[in-house]
Amino acid sequence: MKTQTLNSQNAIELNRIEMIDFYNEATEDYEFWSNDYNMHFGYFIPFKTNLFKRDTMLNQMNAQVIKRLHIGTDKNRLIDLGCGMGGTMRYALKKHTNIMAYGVTLSNFQTKEGNKLLEGKNGIIITDNYNNTSFKNNSFNSAVAIESLCHSGHNNIALKEAYRILKPGGRLVIADAFLKKDTSQLCHGAKYAYQKLCSHWSLEKLETPTFIKNQLEAIGFQDIKLEDISYRVAPSVLHVPFAITSFILKKLLTFKTLKRESFHNLKGSFFALLSGLNFKSFGYYLISATKK
Ligand SMILES: C[S@@+](CC[C@H](N)C(=O)[O-])C[C@H]1O[C@@H](n2cnc3c(N)ncnc32)[C@H](O)[C@@H]1O
Repeated sequence: MKTQTLNSQNAIELNRIEMIDFYNEATEDYEFWSNDYNMHFGYFIPFKTNLFKRDTMLNQMNAQVIKRLHIGTDKNRLIDLGCGMGGTMRYALKKHTNIMAYGVTLSNFQTKEGNKLLEGKNGIIITDNYNNTSFKNNSFNSAVAIESLCHSGHNNIALKEAYRILKPGGRLVIADAFLKKDTSQLCHGAKYAYQKLCSHWSLEKLETPTFIKNQLEAIGFQDIKLEDISYRVAPSVLHVPFAITSFILKKLLTFKTLKRESFHNLKGSFFALLSGLNFKSFGYYLISATKK
């Protein structure tokens, strides 16, 4: 039993190290995905976003997440839990002048380069773990987590930490991919795509949205809302093969070699495409909640 616990702790630690390495080496590649360095999928609204202009959909995802924070006119301290290059922070700062934005990431590359993009703006990125941040209790009015909690297997430690650092009445909004059923109920193909997706993108595991809802409730969050937005996200998922092809072509044409991490990332994107279009087993959700 003890050996089993040690083994799973080792696996978690190994996953964390691989993930940091992955983001330190492959973050630059995301410029291909998004001029604004949005490291997430998009949200499609007919006539509002352009199917052929990926960043309009990726920025619409930022808009949808921020809308659910219910930011008023008072000063608002916002934290991005797993902020990447600060794409969402920059979007929020452009839309709301009353925000002070903080972002945490485990990648030093993202902290250094993301802070350059934030220069002169009311935001800062620090290298910190969203499972155990250095912030005091009741520090923030708003917290967002876009495609980041999956790296820790959607565990409740990160949710408890979000609760701790939010002020009473503070809002948490999560945007992420989830399983729609237990792994034991996945068909052969879905299980294969899921396992490959997790190993290539260093995701510990994915949970179901209901699991998150139950955890949020147990922690003390209220007004919990789950929204299945899979069909809104699908158009940006369909961009994956085109983005991969143009990325590889550019590398070939400029005689540049592909880093191991970049190759890993591209394979992960391919499995994201396979999973993303399997609406029976996988779903993309917006989850919002308020701290009591
Ligand atoms: C797919 S990227 C998403 C970045 C950003 N949310 C966006 O949408 O552009 C995942 C991010 O989660 C961060 N991350 C993963 N695990 C973390 C942890 N335990 N603590 C802090 N950041 C973490 C990674 O460093 C990376 O910045």
